[in-house]
Amino acid sequence: MACTVTCIAPVNIAVIKYWGKKDEKLIIPLNDSLSGTLSMEQMHAKTTIMASPNFTKNCMWLNGKEESFGGNARLLSCLKEIQKRAQEDGTSKEILKWNIHVCSENNFPTAAGLASSAAGYACFVYALAKLYKVKGDVSQIARQGSGSACRSLEGGFVRWHMGNASNGSDSLATQVVPASHWPEMHVIILVVNDKKKKVSSTSGMQRSVETSELLKHRVAHCVPQRIAAIEKAIHNRDFPTFAEITMKDSNQFHAVALDTYPPAVYMNDVSHAIVDLIHCFNQVKGCTKVAYTFDAGPNACLYLLESAVAETMALVDYFFPSNNSGNTVQGLPVPPCNAKETVQAIEAVGMQKQDDGLLKYVIHTRIGEGAKELTDSGTHLLSASGLPL
Ligand code: DP6
Repeated sequence: MACTVTCIAPVNIAVIKYWGKKDEKLIIPLNDSLSGTLSMEQMHAKTTIMASPNFTKNCMWLNGKEESFGGNARLLSCLKEIQKRAQEDGTSKEILKWNIHVCSENNFPTAAGLASSAAGYACFVYALAKLYKVKGDVSQIARQGSGSACRSLEGGFVRWHMGNASNGSDSLATQVVPASHWPEMHVIILVVNDKKKKVSSTSGMQRSVETSELLKHRVAHCVPQRIAAIEKAIHNRDFPTFAEITMKDSNQFHAVALDTYPPAVYMNDVSHAIVDLIHCFNQVKGCTKVAYTFDAGPNACLYLLESAVAETMALVDYFFPSNNSGNTVQGLPVPPCNAKETVQAIEAVGMQKQDDGLLKYVIHTRIGEGAKELTDSGTHLLSASGLPL
């Protein structure tokens, strides 16, 4: 009788940042944004949803812990919106009356501050759409869970169009190019050791909208040009242009965070040292090899072509040594590389080796596919009676 689906959804990392809402409740952004979708082989959220006439209430388990469902307005609005669409699509009335059990987990540490809410909400909404057999794009519903989640449904590079409608009906995400368009594009995430409690994206951006003059300038005069230029660079596989826009947009976003009153400080000294290293590397190479971008936290996300991975990792290991030998790298293998000459050139332009143990670990991944359903019933996270396995 019960109905069960299991789906996985990816993490995305914006190269043109979403920061600021026009409508807090509907989550309509002040500007378009654009991101790369990261491969689900290394990082994903996985969600099982079961609907049954026997369930007495909606329940949710997140990373092994039961969470309140009824108390979470964003979860409830996603559920309500999908059910509305299902009714319009003519889904059986019966299943829409049943309560649901949701079990979700990430295969990467949530505490690392790696855009886990985007993957989680994208997965929740995608799985609901499968459960109720809703057709068509559901990005405008995922958006109402967490803005950036709408960009995690598709693979490759994805653009979230802010839209013009006051009800948000045209604020949705579309694919710019599939992952296969630029298979050489890799991503290295440097997870920085950090204990500071941070300002959440939601409240940080709200404060920026209220207080930052720079945000107004960014929205009106910078983002539209950057979106057009980076889309063109992606279509042309023009890495140097892509990289320059990515770094400038990350820097501007953090400048807006500092222009916020009281300021929101997301990058730390280690983040800034990573920025220095990348600029020194690009300088000594005489061309742009690597781009950095930082979200609302200190971790660096490096976009680079596969051909630059080995040397970049050798530099990271040299300038950010771990307590033991090299840094722990999760994900795709990194080929060995003797970067002695580049290290010397970088030291000659003033970059110094940092203290031991500043990085927690490193993830090496690439651009990948969008959310998908896992059809093998062995992958469900809930038992036949609807409890976490
Ligand atoms: C810095 O999507 O987490 O990662 O819509 O309030 O849930 P809410 O915010 P969220 O903000 C993400 C901000 C960012 C930039 C980006 O991903 O574009």
